[in-house]
Amino acid sequence: MTTDIWLDTDPGFDDWMAWALLQAEPGLRLAGVSVVAGNAPLRHTLANALRIQALHGWTQPVHAGCERPLVQAPVTAQDVLGETAMATTGRALPQAQAQAAPGHGVQALVKAARARPGRLTLLALGPLTNVAAAFDAAPDLPGLLQAIVLMGGSTDRGNTTAVAEFNIHADPEAAARVFGAGVPLVMFGLNVCRQVLVGEEHVRAVRAIGTDRAELFADHLDAYVGIARRRGAAHMAVYDPTPVAWLARPDLFTLEPARVDVELDGRLTRGMTVCEFRVPSRARPNARVALAADGPAVMAWALQGLARALS
Ligand code: BDR
Ligand code: CA
Repeated sequence: MTTDIWLDTDPGFDDWMAWALLQAEPGLRLAGVSVVAGNAPLRHTLANALRIQALHGWTQPVHAGCERPLVQAPVTAQDVLGETAMATTGRALPQAQAQAAPGHGVQALVKAARARPGRLTLLALGPLTNVAAAFDAAPDLPGLLQAIVLMGGSTDRGNTTAVAEFNIHADPEAAARVFGAGVPLVMFGLNVCRQVLVGEEHVRAVRAIGTDRAELFADHLDAYVGIARRRGAAHMAVYDPTPVAWLARPDLFTLEPARVDVELDGRLTRGMTVCEFRVPSRARPNARVALAADGPAVMAWALQGLARALS
C-alpha cells in the first residue's frame, strides 16, 4: 500500500535527512513540498530546500510558503544551527539554479489535498504556519486530509524553553489552530525523538556508503552531531526523521491517545504542548502521541534508507 505525502518543512539538516528517508521509502509517495520559515528565515530554508532537491535530482514541486508566524515576531534556531541552518564540517550543499515552483505553498497544499480527497497525509516538520494558513484559506481542508503527522511539542521537557519545543514555540497560534482542526493528528515530540540518537558511528557509516553525495551528507551530519559534542554529549537526538520512521515502520513505536492543547498565554509556558492522557474520561482526544521508540532499530532503518537515497 502506498501513502501519499505532502511535506511541509523548514530545512534544516534534520529536515533534509527526513526528506531523503521519505524519498527512499518504497511505500511513501511524495506529492509536493511547501517550505516555511523556521530554523532560519524563509530565504535560507527555501534556498536549502532547492539545493537539496537539486542535489538529489528530485522532481516534486517545491513551493515557498509563509515568511512569518501568524501573530508573533519571527524566531529562528540560527543560534544553534548557524546562519543558514545548514552547518557543515566540510563541503556545503552546492548552489542550485532552480527556482521555487509557481504558486504559494499554502495554495499548493490545498490543491494537492483536493486532488486526493481522504488520501493525503501531511507531514509537518517545521513551525505550523503554512498548515494553519491552509486551514484558514480552505475550510474544507480538515475533511480532505487523511492525517497530519508532525514533529513538534513534547510530553515533558522542551528545547527552546524549559517546556516549549522549537516548532511550536516558533508559532504557537498556528500550532493551536492545527491541534484544534479536527484532523487525525500524530505527534512526535522531543520526548520520543530523544530516544533516537545519532553519533560519530553513524557519520562513519554514511561516509562508508562511498558516494560523493554520501560524503557531502556526512559532512552535514557531522556538524549536526557537533551540536551535541559542544554540549559534552556523544549523541544528538533525531527529530524530523523520527515521524518518517513511524510512517515506514510503525512496529518500532508505541503511541497513546491524548488531548493535546497548546499553551498560548503562560508567562513561562507559552508554546508548551499540554498532554492529557486521561482520555476520554477527562478530555476528548485529538491526537495520538508517540511515547516510545526502539532507537537503535530506527537508526538501523535510517542507515538503510540513507544508503538508497545517497547512492
Ligand atoms: C525541531 O526544530 C528544528 O530545529 C528541527 O528541524 C526540528 O524540526 C526540533 O525541535
Ligand atoms: Ca524542521
